[in-house]
Order: sequence, then structure tokens, then C-alpha cells
Amino acid sequence: MFRLGLGSALLALSLTPRLRYILRSTLRASRMKKAKLAAKKPVTSSKERATRSESVKILISRDRIRRRIREVARQIRKDFADEPLHLVGVLKGAVFFLADLAREIPGEVSFDFIAVSSYGKNTHSSGQVRLTRDLDSSIEGKNVIVVEDILDTGMTLQYLLRIFEQRNPKALRVAVLLDKPSRRLVPVRADYIGFSIPNEFVVGYGLDYAERYRNLLDVGVLTLADALSASAK
Ligand code: IMP
Ligand code: MG
Repeated sequence: MFRLGLGSALLALSLTPRLRYILRSTLRASRMKKAKLAAKKPVTSSKERATRSESVKILISRDRIRRRIREVARQIRKDFADEPLHLVGVLKGAVFFLADLAREIPGEVSFDFIAVSSYGKNTHSSGQVRLTRDLDSSIEGKNVIVVEDILDTGMTLQYLLRIFEQRNPKALRVAVLLDKPSRRLVPVRADYIGFSIPNEFVVGYGLDYAERYRNLLDVGVLTLADALSASAK
């Protein structure tokens, strides 16, 4: 018994380094396997999670947008008869509206772009407007139509109209695709309005949420999941 015990102990002692080696390599192999599996697993970024918990419900279809733009274009041309028109698009939201509107107005039309920033990544205005890109050419003596995607609080247009008035255009008008009259904080109105809409956050046809959804063909209401919507406020 004593002999056997001593033998086992001696055997165990003699195997210890070998056992340790086997244990270590088994552990290493299992760790490597785990790492490989983790690398294959799709990583869910916060952006992907956000995309999944957002939904867009069509509010104004592309066909309605097209028809309405044709009517607005006709009205603008009627108001300015044979005069040249200079459209000033507010980047980036108004690009598609301006592109479609300009092509529906017969006669002489030129255009330019200006960029302002006011919203950042939230669905709520910071209330601050900043000029980030000025016009390429002078608007002095021109029939200027400011083309904007949406009139919300009115801060952006109020800021832009102040700048443009100082530059002595012949006429200064405003065309907006969408108007949210219930959100107005300052007394600004548009001369041409595509659609008046309720107080919903909309995306598509140039309008974005954190730079996404601009490429949608229709205008839709964006709904955020509760947790996300709370964090965006
Ligand atoms: P305002 O200065 O509050 O009138 O906001 C005008 C700008 O805010 C627009 O040009 C848009 O860029 C942005 N904005 C306001 N409402 C919405 C919306 O519902 N969806 C996307 N952008 C919006
Ligand atoms: Mg805009």
C-alpha cells in the first residue's frame, strides 16, 4: 500500500510537467476555437441596432410629389411670366425638390445652392442656424426663389431670408416641399407650398435622419423605438 502510494505519488510527480503541458495546449486550443467563432458571429453595431428599431411609413407617395411639383412649377411660372428665375436650393434636403422643380418650370431658370446646419443628428432642432456654404454667384437684381425641403420652426428660413434681403434681389420668394405650420416659432411663411403636414418627423425625398433616408423616393413618417427616441431627444 505504502509502496503503491509512493509509486503513484512518484508517477504523478513525474507526469506533472507533461500533464501541465497537455492541459495548457488543450486550453489554448479551446480559447482559439472560441475566438474563431466570435469572429464569425455578426457584430451588431449601435447603428445597425438603431436601423432595426426604426420604421418609415409612407405619408406622401412619389406620384403625389411629382404631380404637386408640376402644379407648383406652373404657378411659379405664371407669377413670373417670361422673367428669368434663379432658384436657390438649401443643401442637402432640397436637392431632389430643386432638381424636379427646376425641370418642371419652363423658360429661363438658373440655380445655385447654399448650406446651413441647424439640426445635427437629432429629430429636434438645436435652434441654432449656421451658414456652412455660401452661394457661388450674386443674387442682386435676380428673381430669387429659395427652395427648401421643409418649413418647421422657421428659424432656418428666417436666417436665410435676412441674408438674401441684404443682397438686393429683384424679387425674393420661398418654395417649400413640406410645411409643418403647427411647429412655427418665428413668423415666416412660404409663397409656394407642396404639402402641409402634421407635426411628425418625416424622411425621404431629400429629408434625412442623421444623414440617412434621403434617397427614399416617397416621404414617410419616421418612428423610433421608445428607448431610441428617448435618447435622441
Ligand atoms: P426649421 O429651421 O426649424 O424651420 O427647420 C428647417 C430644417 O430642419 C429643414 O430644412 C430640415 O433640414 C430640418 N427638418 C425640420 N423638420 C424635419 C423633419 O421632419 N424631417 C427631417 N428634417 C427636418
Ligand atoms: Mg433643410
